[in-house]
Amino acid sequence: MKVSVSILKEYENLISAVKKVNKSSADFLHVDVMDGKFVDNKKFPLEVVKDIKAVSTKRIDLHLMVKDHSVIKEYAKLEPQYITFHVEVIDDFSLIDYVKSLGLKVGLAINPETDERKIIPYLDDIDLVLFMSVSPGAGGQSFKEEVVEKIRKIKKIAPTDLIVSIDGGVNDKTIELCKYAGCDMVVSGSYITDSSNYDDKINNLK
Ligand code: DX5
Ligand code: ZN
Repeated sequence: MKVSVSILKEYENLISAVKKVNKSSADFLHVDVMDGKFVDNKKFPLEVVKDIKAVSTKRIDLHLMVKDHSVIKEYAKLEPQYITFHVEVIDDFSLIDYVKSLGLKVGLAINPETDERKIIPYLDDIDLVLFMSVSPGAGGQSFKEEVVEKIRKIKKIAPTDLIVSIDGGVNDKTIELCKYAGCDMVVSGSYITDSSNYDDKINNLK
């Protein structure tokens, strides 16, 4: 299981959290960009992500919870491993094609209450699908179990090389549901960053 660590809950101590992730066996550093419109919170403006990039030795897994995708151009210059935006705010393939034209991998995120059939048309054209197992906007919420069956349905029809990831409320108990659902990767925040030993927690998820 690949593990991507969300540092959202360490917003006041970001650089220290990034250094702890560097020293761990995490696969990616998950950065939650929020615009105050798609979600109420406003976090991780470009300048902050630049500071993170300067310190991180892990590849960045960028989760854009934004309505206005014109910001992608600047974030893309930081060359994250994945740029993931939400299916709820696209109407066609243009953004997917744009990110791919920059030579970057593209992910599509889907909220818990969105019909999973909405992502089906895009499955052959993306690198990653990110199932939200909480309402986006905040760390530390509890895992919505109803997402498990949605993932199983999509996993059955998805290309074998599509990375299926899940975000929200992932801990040492809900990881079993993530495995059952068929996830290849998990995003986990507070379960890891509330601990003084990130690696212990990460190893419990791997
Ligand atoms: C929620 C974010 C998640 C969140 C995960 O909007 O997308 O990445 O920070 O944090 P935990 O694991 O605490 O739910
Ligand atoms: Zn996220």
